[in-house]
Amino acid sequence: MKNVLICGGAGYIGSHMVKLLAEAGYDVTTFDNLSTGHREAVKWGHWFEGDLLDTLSLEAVFRKTKFDAVIHFAARSLVGESMVRPSLYYQNNVVGTFNLLEKMVEHGVPSIVFSSTAAVYGEPQATPIHESHPTLPINPYGRTKAAVETMLRDYAAAYRLRSVSLRYFNAAGADPEGSIGESHQPETHLIPNVLRSLLETERVLQIFGDDYPTPDGTCVRDYIHVSDLCDAHLLALDYLDKNEGAYSFNLGNGQGFSILEVIRGAEEIVGKPIAYTLSPRRPGDPAVLVADSQRARSELRWRPRYTDIREIIETAWQWHRNPTY
Ligand code: UFG
Repeated sequence: MKNVLICGGAGYIGSHMVKLLAEAGYDVTTFDNLSTGHREAVKWGHWFEGDLLDTLSLEAVFRKTKFDAVIHFAARSLVGESMVRPSLYYQNNVVGTFNLLEKMVEHGVPSIVFSSTAAVYGEPQATPIHESHPTLPINPYGRTKAAVETMLRDYAAAYRLRSVSLRYFNAAGADPEGSIGESHQPETHLIPNVLRSLLETERVLQIFGDDYPTPDGTCVRDYIHVSDLCDAHLLALDYLDKNEGAYSFNLGNGQGFSILEVIRGAEEIVGKPIAYTLSPRRPGDPAVLVADSQRARSELRWRPRYTDIREIIETAWQWHRNPTY
């Protein structure tokens, strides 16, 4: 049985990954400082509370188990916050990951799957975005993720640390069995905010900008189901068994939906009209972000299962109606 360490396993995507790995027969250990995650979301495997900035707690988890691989989700991930508090991002995302990579090299752990982001590309020069697109991030969040990707290439060359960086587009949806889902405090993401505006009458949905150069004026995004993202991580682990080096893959459906289209989709599922107000643009939002994920399809043999935006919203709605944390 393979031993896998999940850093950030109490977070949104991490907790879904823990479930998938446990169901696939892996021995999973979650390492998380609970700064943004939820202890209740970790329902499988071993639990270890610790911080990537505390090298003693890292040393303790690496001593306890001989891991075959690490999947690393632990990071700060809000674009707006990164603009006003960059130190938080450089410290957690760059220094924290540096500490983790050092421990991996020291303890001879050969492979890592890293959560990267579409934010490494910055303002798209062409769409859909291919991995060959220049990486010119326009905010500290994207710069910290791009810095780690650079670090991973250097560690592959010098220490033969194998890595796959997965550049997520817009992660969405929830475990179809309903036991885990997306719960951020504060919530900044579109789909949870749309659904919560229906459940909490005092919450008014805001649309940030309707004057973008898109068909209806609102931003277009490529929404990808969290379970499909997790499938790609599992495939990446297998890929690293067979391939040396540092790789990057986009993960998206290749189809863009505007904010208004997402709202219409949610209205269909819930069967109620959704009220919203129009607000100014949110700083740092590109007009259109759509992935070309051909490389993940051909190299990892990845096939997203949730290709209909309504199916993605439906799983999120099931969770938001009955959240357990
Ligand atoms: N939006 C609203 N109202 C809301 C929330 C969001 O109008 O209440 C809009 C945003 O302005 C944006 C779109 O809906 O146009 C999607 O916003 P999200 O916050 O859901 O997601 P982002 O596109 O901002 O985030 C994604 C990834 C990040 C990545 C970023 C790069 O989740 O990891 O794209 O721009 F950094």
